[in-house]
Amino acid sequence: MTLRVEPSGQACGARIRGIDLSAPLSPDLMAEIRAAWLSHRVLAFPDQSSMDDDALERFTLAMGGFGEDPFFDPIDGRRNIAAILREADETSLLFAENWHSDWTFLERPPAGTCLLAVDIPPIGGDTLFANQIAAFAALSDERKAYLRTLTAVHSAKLAYAPEGTYGKNDTGRSMAIRPDESANKVEAHPLVQPHPETGEEALFSTLGYIIGIQGMEQAEAIALLSELTQWQTRDEFVYRHVWEPDMLVIWDNRSVLHKATGGYEGHRRELHRTTIKAWQGVAV
Ligand code: SIN
Repeated sequence: MTLRVEPSGQACGARIRGIDLSAPLSPDLMAEIRAAWLSHRVLAFPDQSSMDDDALERFTLAMGGFGEDPFFDPIDGRRNIAAILREADETSLLFAENWHSDWTFLERPPAGTCLLAVDIPPIGGDTLFANQIAAFAALSDERKAYLRTLTAVHSAKLAYAPEGTYGKNDTGRSMAIRPDESANKVEAHPLVQPHPETGEEALFSTLGYIIGIQGMEQAEAIALLSELTQWQTRDEFVYRHVWEPDMLVIWDNRSVLHKATGGYEGHRRELHRTTIKAWQGVAV
């Protein structure tokens, strides 16, 4: 089977046609999908009306297997699917409305994330993606050389610790977020990382999950990270993804940042999410 790949024309992202992801996924087909994913970083598969949670799990396994989801409860009857959910009358802070790459505070952050549309509002709720290979490539050689020397300190504490955004004061949320003291742990990762599958250098994650820079005064680190965040998320690096019913989207956490957007007040929004575990060095 040859996929039809339609690039978004923006900084990353492509639509993939000519495939039914509920049908058997052959190694050749998965190799084609993986090649398109590595090249476009975000893939949207429209018209997947037959894709259910079983098919979502099969697809995630074929992409490399399930990653860990530390602060979400799964949906009933599944161990590896979480619901990104907002009820029509919900007034809690929008989930994930800040730039991030998923779970970068883990020792081995996930390679990617899958989101399957369940209930898509008629307006709003777009997801934004920022291409971090393009953002790094556009820096001066001098700046690149400096950033390559830095090691970032990552933590989930601002979001998922009991005192964090989704902690004990976060009420009225329909999503099954489970804050925990373990969110206070820290993990170090180079600020600039070669993509494990393509070797392209990317800025890895951003302010939020990055809470400091090793060996740097905190005020200086936050100033640097804030300035860098402005750069990382410039319009020229961004793809705006507009959801459709029956659509699956997968993104590469090693090369893009993403964030949710609102604009669908009064409408329900639900997507089923799996994470793809860190690259093991071989295609599955
Ligand atoms: C996420 O960050 O997993 C959710 C993105 C979205 O709701 O658009």
